[in-house]
Amino acid sequence: MNLNIGVIKGDGIGPEIVTEAMKVLDKTGEIYGFRCTYEQLLMGGASIDVHGVPLTDETIARAKASDAVLMGSIGGDAKTSPWYQLEPSKRPEAGLLKIRKALNLFANLRPAVLYEELAAACPLKEEITEGGFDLMIMRELTGGLYFGERKTVEEEGVRTAYDSLTYNENEIRRIAVRAFDIAMKRRKKVTSVDKANVLDSSRLWRKVVEEVAADYPEVTLEHMLVDNCAMQLVRDPKQFDVILTENMFGDILSDEASMVTGSIGMLASASLNETKFGLYEPSGGSAPDIAGKGIANPIATILSAAMMLRFSFDLDKAADAIEAAVSQVLKDGYRTGDIMSEGCTKVGTAQMGDLICERIH
Ligand code: IPM
Ligand code: MG
Repeated sequence: MNLNIGVIKGDGIGPEIVTEAMKVLDKTGEIYGFRCTYEQLLMGGASIDVHGVPLTDETIARAKASDAVLMGSIGGDAKTSPWYQLEPSKRPEAGLLKIRKALNLFANLRPAVLYEELAAACPLKEEITEGGFDLMIMRELTGGLYFGERKTVEEEGVRTAYDSLTYNENEIRRIAVRAFDIAMKRRKKVTSVDKANVLDSSRLWRKVVEEVAADYPEVTLEHMLVDNCAMQLVRDPKQFDVILTENMFGDILSDEASMVTGSIGMLASASLNETKFGLYEPSGGSAPDIAGKGIANPIATILSAAMMLRFSFDLDKAADAIEAAVSQVLKDGYRTGDIMSEGCTKVGTAQMGDLICERIH
């Protein structure tokens, strides 16, 4: 089996962490009988440097032609990087938003799992995290404030900015269906997060989610206001199974969820459309402050590659093997700096990749 993978290494720590994920994919392929062919694609700052824009139409076409895309991270330091002298629509992040929209990647899955071994890296008290937790954020990714009309104008001498938050019922329904489908394979609970006490878009969200829920009698549906959810995530993360939410709320809550697992360097993600195609990337950013130092944590990207095998290629056993190797490496006491704790062995990015490869069976 040959897998045609588009690779966007991107900016900052992107190239380092993606290199490790490719290493792990190759090793897994040797054992599980598949071969990855990689096509390097430019996006974000790396594309600006070459083409003057963060994403070209040719890159979109080549991404579409691949079976799946594996991505590192994009963006630089907004204070010092020349990319941020450009107008907003030409900056690195604009490339990311454009590819999400162009490939119709409306379903963003961000699993947040607390590994027992990383309990020490978790900032929450032990009594809260005892036994670990395992939740899945299902974030809508191609609508809402991110893609609404926006403008900055001067009205009677006053600078005024507009961002609009729009959702139609179809956009809500298709992401809700994804959330319920995945809940059926998990602990059968969906927490739909909104701000229905204020926003019309949230009130429609609630109605449509309830309509979808009617088709899933086995799944328990609960609604939660986003401010309360932010609090509940640190008060009692174990209560959650699947969190279903719109784009902006999902952006914020997923960073919070990542931190309660110990580090954003552990969080994988998958962005999916209606087909088997997906874009897989760590939830964290490009961390320009540590780029090129060989100390970034590659685990989120490696776990994203595992999600790719699972969702785009139905290679569940191979995905399990990667996840087991990650658990094992943590059990064996190896840590990158971000998750380091006393008594463990500190390793760099490439070493972590090698150690995980050695544990793939
Ligand atoms: C993420 C990131 C992006 C987002 C940024 C880089 C535009 O924070 O994937 O969560 O807000 O979606
Ligand atoms: Mg984010």
